[in-house]
Amino acid sequence: MGIRIAVLASGGGTNLQAIIDHTENEQINGEVVLILSNNKEAYALKRGEQHNIPSFYVEATNRNEKILKLLKEYDIDFVVLAGYLKILSKEIIDAFRNKIINIHPSLLPKYSGKGYYGEKVHQAVISNNDKFSGATVHYVDEGIDTGKILMQKKVKVLDTDDYISLSKRILKVEHEILVNVIEKLSKGDHNFESIN
Ligand code: GRF
Repeated sequence: MGIRIAVLASGGGTNLQAIIDHTENEQINGEVVLILSNNKEAYALKRGEQHNIPSFYVEATNRNEKILKLLKEYDIDFVVLAGYLKILSKEIIDAFRNKIINIHPSLLPKYSGKGYYGEKVHQAVISNNDKFSGATVHYVDEGIDTGKILMQKKVKVLDTDDYISLSKRILKVEHEILVNVIEKLSKGDHNFESIN
């Protein structure tokens, strides 16, 4: 049986794919039973269809009400924001308090908040000549990228890096720590330490 996971994604869905792969190999004790996107072109929706997972584009009108309704209809235990670029309503946060996690492509609290997502984060790291960056998994609360941090992993910035090469290495670390956190939570293990 395991936990019933919903994944919200706005883009290509490589984080989603990593979760699907690790539910199918049973490393994660659960299954992805619902995929939602604010972007009808999101490849994440195609990935869901390829794995026969109910996958829906949710249009902007009353989007959060529709999302909450679907999460309840599908009896969701746990919500993962995997490259999801919209803000969830307080109603959703309250209904799923400490049951929503997000993957962010920096060492939070650095490069967090409005405007810091995807490649914009890596561009800032490069332009600030940071020696390290990384990825963070955290609980989602009412803020943007402000919930309790569950796991982080550092990534060294190489002298030869531009934001594209850095983003590729960090994306791999995102997959690693996101799957690691979900696996732990799916097995009732709530003690997290950062892996550096
Ligand atoms: C990536 O920029 C990643 O850093 C962030 O969301 C974006 C999309 O990732 N978490 P994905 O391939 O759609 O999972």
